[in-house]
Amino acid sequence: MQDSLFGDTPQPDQTLCEGAVVLGGYARRLDPVIGGLLEALAQDAPFRQMETPGGRKMSVAMTNCGGSGWVSDRAGYRYEGRDPLTGRPWPEMPAPLRDLARDSATQAGFTGFDPDACLINQYLPGARLSLHQDKDEADFSQPIVSVSLGLSAVFLFGGLSRADPVRKIGLEHSDVVVWGGPSRLRYHGISPVKEGDHALLGRRRINLTFRRVL
Ligand code: SIN
Ligand code: FE2
Repeated sequence: MQDSLFGDTPQPDQTLCEGAVVLGGYARRLDPVIGGLLEALAQDAPFRQMETPGGRKMSVAMTNCGGSGWVSDRAGYRYEGRDPLTGRPWPEMPAPLRDLARDSATQAGFTGFDPDACLINQYLPGARLSLHQDKDEADFSQPIVSVSLGLSAVFLFGGLSRADPVRKIGLEHSDVVVWGGPSRLRYHGISPVKEGDHALLGRRRINLTFRRVL
């Protein structure tokens, strides 16, 4: 989003289309705790660059917290209750993250969202995520809550088929995007992240994607 003239004033909410909204600055409450939370989570379940089913290494490094974690390897995309790297269950979803996800969904008009998965994406400058749908979950009546932290990024938001036009939306630290209902299966992605150094999180962008899987 555009820089605010008033520094700390959150951006107003921006409806993208039916069922999809950007909540500007809605994750600011995480600022005092996010550095420590990420460090502790990554110590338990380290960031790793997963392999696509086609055998390519993803540029984004990923880990998870919560009951189910999203994984990709030569066998495909799926959710796993345990971290394949360590054999242990994924770390518990910290309450401040779960509460933010619930409140964001409510703010966007989706009441009763209770996420059991939080995918944590780490983008170093140059990393990107190509257009895809989130469709490995059982119940598409539940929305996606996506929290942007650290370096800014250009979010690509398309339609229900890959060839539909794609909008480019600037996302800054602490912006939250929620999409569900008729927008739940819209294609989306992230353009290559530009070089930078964020005051709180350094030379990286972090994205938290909350979902209801089971
Ligand atoms: C995702 O679609 O999994 C992540 C999107 C983002 O990084 O903002
Ligand atoms: Fe996604």
